[in-house]
Amino acid sequence: MSKLWGGRFTENTDSLVYDFNASIGFDKRMYRQDITGSIVHARMLGRCGIIPTEDSEAIVKGLEGILADIESGKIAIDETMEDIHSFVESELTARIGDAGKKLHTGRSRNDQVALDVKLYARDYIDSLDVKLKDLLCTLLNIIENNTETFMPGFTHMQKAQPVTLAHHMSAYFEMFRRDRSRLFDIRKRMNLCPLGSGALAGTTYPLDREFVARELGFDGPTVNSMDSVSDRDHIVELLSALSTIMMHLSRFSEEMIIWNSNEYRFVEMSDAYSTGSSIMPQKKNPDIAELVRGKTGRVYGALMSMLTTLKGIPLAYNKDMQEDKEPFFDAADTVLNCVTLFNGMLSTVTFNKKVMEESAKNGFTNATDVADYLVVKNIPFRDAHRIVGELVLLCIDKGCTLDDLTLDEFKKYSPVIEEDIYDAISMKTCVMKRCTKGAPGPDAMKNVIDEYKRYLAD
Ligand code: ARG
Repeated sequence: MSKLWGGRFTENTDSLVYDFNASIGFDKRMYRQDITGSIVHARMLGRCGIIPTEDSEAIVKGLEGILADIESGKIAIDETMEDIHSFVESELTARIGDAGKKLHTGRSRNDQVALDVKLYARDYIDSLDVKLKDLLCTLLNIIENNTETFMPGFTHMQKAQPVTLAHHMSAYFEMFRRDRSRLFDIRKRMNLCPLGSGALAGTTYPLDREFVARELGFDGPTVNSMDSVSDRDHIVELLSALSTIMMHLSRFSEEMIIWNSNEYRFVEMSDAYSTGSSIMPQKKNPDIAELVRGKTGRVYGALMSMLTTLKGIPLAYNKDMQEDKEPFFDAADTVLNCVTLFNGMLSTVTFNKKVMEESAKNGFTNATDVADYLVVKNIPFRDAHRIVGELVLLCIDKGCTLDDLTLDEFKKYSPVIEEDIYDAISMKTCVMKRCTKGAPGPDAMKNVIDEYKRYLAD
């Protein structure tokens, strides 16, 4: 039991209270951010003449030593301390003596923790962005190789119109690139430095907040000291963006699970990303996709938890805010893992192109194209729709596809139909002709691929 604030107390803290209050168990992961912030704070105190330069230099050296020793495993973080801030300060004082006690001049743990969380969130966004970019590279690779891999597009889980695997994957490319841009926006908005706000009302020392902000890579200092120590909007926003990423991954997982099912067989997952059953020897299960889908719940939970924690907190800092970390860290770890694992699974999956193409050929996915053919021959679309509906009924009756009908059969339903119908409604034509911007036609997709390459090269 070791703390920074014993002076005004005469009795010891109850040990259950101490444990309940302590956060070192989970905030120790912010040691690098905490030390980095303290180094810049100490440099600023020296530069501004608030503490002697020798002390400032001794503090910086001491902190650098602590950081190096933690990273190399030479020292372990002492979990009997109240929090990471207390640990670093007491370790510093143990190493350099009285100068260490000057580190906290003009600072509170309130602005310190607000800074640490922001630095951590910023670092996290940067590492998640790398993983999302990896996933986009995997998607682009699949897209480039499958502009003529035909498959059914679905609405209501019913076969609708033929598309290509490239087009389907490009839909996910769009989702994950929006996710990256969301993270970018959040990073930009949160990038103001709270250090120097003190407990809530700033300080009387002539701190150089601009210097600290600049040195720590912020766009500037925050504007209001009370807001600075009680703002956790960036955590809410980040958890919301993480929830959206999980929502995308979960939908994608759901499709992979369906495509991997015995009924579909559109894909075959690699052995490295599948698991077996303890009783049924034939089983090869898509557990990774299922886990990603399942873990979506806990990330949404973190968002709800954060919003609920914040909703009743009056200004400025209150201890409730310590509850920001566990849900945030858990969601952050979960999403980074899920993106990494999902990418591994996707990059090793085999697409059964034949099965996909066969599937696209039946299910009357070219019915709209038969109607469009009639429209070209001057039949009003609504009449064409009815005629094709009747043709579909005939096919269902005969157990065949529209392509299997003879010209005589076609003509019974509409005399304008000629021999060119077969080419007009072939699956290949159906896809190739769809070349408007955003459509699956390979010519349209070629432009999309060029654009994706430029985007990823940026
Ligand atoms: N562990 C605290 C947190 O995470 C640090 C700030 C403590 N400040 C205070 N006045 N008790 O929020």
